[in-house]
Amino acid sequence: MSFIRVDDIQLAYTDTGLGQPVVLLHGYPFNRTLWAEQVGALSNRYRVITPDLRGLGESDATPGAATMNRMAQDVAILLDHLEISRAVIGGLSMGGYVALAFYKQFPSRVRALVLADTRAQADTEEGKQTRFQQAEKALAEGMAGIADSMLPKLLTPETVSKRPELVKRVRDMMLKTKSEGAAGALLGMAERDDQTPLLSQISCPALILVGREDPITPVRDSEKMNREIAGSRLVVIENAAHVSNLERTEQFNNELVRFLNLLS
Ligand code: MLT
Repeated sequence: MSFIRVDDIQLAYTDTGLGQPVVLLHGYPFNRTLWAEQVGALSNRYRVITPDLRGLGESDATPGAATMNRMAQDVAILLDHLEISRAVIGGLSMGGYVALAFYKQFPSRVRALVLADTRAQADTEEGKQTRFQQAEKALAEGMAGIADSMLPKLLTPETVSKRPELVKRVRDMMLKTKSEGAAGALLGMAERDDQTPLLSQISCPALILVGREDPITPVRDSEKMNREIAGSRLVVIENAAHVSNLERTEQFNNELVRFLNLLS
């Protein structure tokens, strides 16, 4: 793991393997270790970069909203530092919001997009209010309550009952998250732009993946992106909820590798 200084913070990241660069952006309230299995599957052929997004993992948190645009700018600064002009940009959930914000700001730097368990729409008014309450809760009480309430939405009931190690890993990732960073991400997600109008302007190859049972960013959100992004490929992963890359790693990786290999 390495760090770079990005304006006011230290940003943590890993840079593994050689080849066409692939950046993988984690969701909320996770960190770069969300992608451990994808780094393992790709890094024999690709250069895989996994940052801890601003405020999360081992990257420093700053007070106030960590916006999706700011997180995308952090990624651009990281790519400059690594002397990478263009990369495949992939993200899961909040990572997907950041990937779309990155495309909007730096379209020529995107070789292809991978949008996993994510959506283009902004939050509803009600959704924003929930984010504000969650941010206050994280700051006042820490992450345990948030982790408990999120777990049943992240994994299918079958996984929750039959795969205790995976449940523990996902829960531990959330518990390790700094409250200030979680609050910043929540406030940042609440004020994110509606990227729906961007979808029809996306001209790079795009792979869209989603767990069939994802209650946070349901299949219909991915179907919408698939309809709007010309030439995109949609894969619905059976027996998976929101963190489909961890729940059905083999299928997720197979789809990812097939997509990336077609680009080279
Ligand atoms: C995530 O997994 O990044 C979040 O659940 C996304 C969201 O809350 O919109």
